[in-house]
Amino acid sequence: MSVTVRVPAKVNVQLGVGPARPDGFHDLANVFLAVGLYDEITVTPADALRVTCDGPGADQVPLDRTNLAARAALALAERYGREPDVHIHIDKDIPVAGGMAGGSADGAGALLACDALWGTGASRDELLAICAELGSDVPFSLVGGAALGTGRGEKLTGLAVGATFHWVFAMAGRGLSTPAVFREFDRLAEGADVPDPVASQDLLDALAAGDAGALAVAVSNDLQPAALSLHPELADTLAAGRAAGALAALVSGSGPTTAFLAGDADEAAVIAGVLRASGTCASVRVAEAPAAGATVV
Ligand code: C5P
Repeated sequence: MSVTVRVPAKVNVQLGVGPARPDGFHDLANVFLAVGLYDEITVTPADALRVTCDGPGADQVPLDRTNLAARAALALAERYGREPDVHIHIDKDIPVAGGMAGGSADGAGALLACDALWGTGASRDELLAICAELGSDVPFSLVGGAALGTGRGEKLTGLAVGATFHWVFAMAGRGLSTPAVFREFDRLAEGADVPDPVASQDLLDALAAGDAGALAVAVSNDLQPAALSLHPELADTLAAGRAAGALAALVSGSGPTTAFLAGDADEAAVIAGVLRASGTCASVRVAEAPAAGATVV
């Protein structure tokens, strides 16, 4: 018997970053949108905890107990006083180290899958609390849809979304480490007065109205200068997508994936074609948002 859970990637349509806190984290105003690119996590009873992974970039995924999926199984097993005796298989489609919460998706997926396999009866709030311990973006991977994340991003408020949005994602040839991007943010901000982050009401209104044009004007990512500083060639990808007609072009989360908002599905296909031919990125995907959160399939 095994359980498979499908979990979406995310893009941040607003990533407002405050000053570094004493614990090293940053307070965020983080508007998450789940997008229809998915990892599938399958758990099967086994003699001992084991992780395997297939798919693009799988060779860069750690298979030891640092993997968020393994940590999720360990955390749930400890809480319910049982052995974490499962084989976790990750069928990867979300870019690895791409700024689209692929690792967080695997954590949320493994947690939900083990919960179903073991029949723990954990409440949604309990699962969300474990997610928050695993990482700042993991709770959102569980809930999906659209949400405002505050604190370090883990305190979620669900948001209304009035329509399907069409996105194009350009993957870079090499990944970026999230802590390194936050460190670069701190370095660039040195001596400046970084204000506390606040969610943009124009952005929330655009999401609720399902208005892609208004959303395009309102998107922002405070980590983008740091990501561009570490990966200057991303500026060429952003420019190529804008020239192809994207309504908005931005770095996804801490990068290096770049995200392009299209007016409709046909425009998304055109932008994807132009980006593929541009030679400025390693691969290109089209996806719709919002997508449902972690779901047993
Ligand atoms: O929470 P998570 O483990 O995903 O965070 C990874 C790293 O990103 C943290 O160690 C920290 O360097 C940085 N981070 C941050 N502020 C946040 C979230 C993450 O500085 N709100």
